[in-house]
Amino acid sequence: MKALESLKSANREEERLLEQIEPKRLPAHIAIIMDGNGRWAQRRHLPRVAGHRAGVKAAREIIEACARMKITALTLYAFSMENWRRPKTEVDFLMRLLREYLRKELPIIHKNNIRLLVIGRPDQLPDAVSRDIERAEQTTARNTGMKLVVALNYGARAELVDAFNRIVDRIRHNGLSSYQVDEQTVSDHLYTAGLPDPDLVIRTSGEMRVSNFLLWQIAYAEIYVTETLWPDFNRARLLEALIEYQKRERRYGGLSAGGAAESADKEEVEELAASASRHRARG
Ligand code: FPP
Repeated sequence: MKALESLKSANREEERLLEQIEPKRLPAHIAIIMDGNGRWAQRRHLPRVAGHRAGVKAAREIIEACARMKITALTLYAFSMENWRRPKTEVDFLMRLLREYLRKELPIIHKNNIRLLVIGRPDQLPDAVSRDIERAEQTTARNTGMKLVVALNYGARAELVDAFNRIVDRIRHNGLSSYQVDEQTVSDHLYTAGLPDPDLVIRTSGEMRVSNFLLWQIAYAEIYVTETLWPDFNRARLLEALIEYQKRERRYGGLSAGGAAESADKEEVEELAASASRHRARG
C-alpha cells in the first residue's frame, strides 16, 4: 500500500483512479514509446520543438510518479536510430534538450536515489552528449531506487546484433567450441542485462507499432496504446494504463489457474500432458 500512498497528494481524478489499483500487482518494469510531440505542437500552431519541450515536462511527471510507486525500472524511448532521418535542426534541438535535461535534472534524480542508465549505440552521439551521459551514469551508479533507462540512438535489431557479436567474441576468446547459447545467454548480452523484462509497454498517440523497441524483452509484455499525445500524458493517464494492465490476465502462453479449473477441458489438458510425458519417456 505504501507505494501508492506516496501519490496521495493526488487530485480528485487521480484519487478515484488510485482506488482501483492493487499496489501488490504493479508492473516491475514499464517501458514507454513517447510519441506525438510533433502533433501536439502542430495542433497548437507551434513549432515541433515546442512539442519536444512539453514532452520533457511530461517525462518529468511520469518519472517522479513511477519512482514514488517504487517501480523497479522505467524505460523511455527518447531517440531511435531512425530519428537521425529528421531535419538536422530538429535532431540538434533534441540533443540540446537532452543535455539540458541531464544537467538540470541530475541533482533531483540523484537525490531521489534513482539510477540513470542509457541504452543504445553511444558511438554516433555527439561527444558532449556522451560526456553528459557518462557523468550522469557515474553519479547515480550506486543508487538503489528506481532504474531510469533512457533509450538513446537505440534500435532493438541493432541491440540483438551487438549481443550476438559479443557472444561470438566470448566464444572465440574463451576457446569454447561447443558453447551452448540459450535464452538467458542472449538476455545477458543485451544492453538491458540485469533488468527485468518490461511487463507493460505504453505507446502514446495511437500508433499500433512497436517501432524496433526492446523486441526481445517485450515477448510477454502487455501493450497499452492510448490516443493521448505524449505531452498530455500525465499521472492520471499513467494510472489508467496501470488499471488496464491489472485487468488483463497474464498467462505466458499457458492457461490461467481459474480458467483452467472452471473449464471442462481441464482433465483433457492433464491427459494431454501425461500422454506427452509418456511419449517423451518412451522416445
Ligand atoms: C516523439 O514525438 C518523441 C520523440 C522523438 C522523442 C523525444 C522525446 C522527448 C523530448 C521527451 C523527453 C524525454 C526525456 C528522457 C527527457 P514525435 O516528434 O515523433 O511526434 P509526432 O509523431 O507527432 O511527429
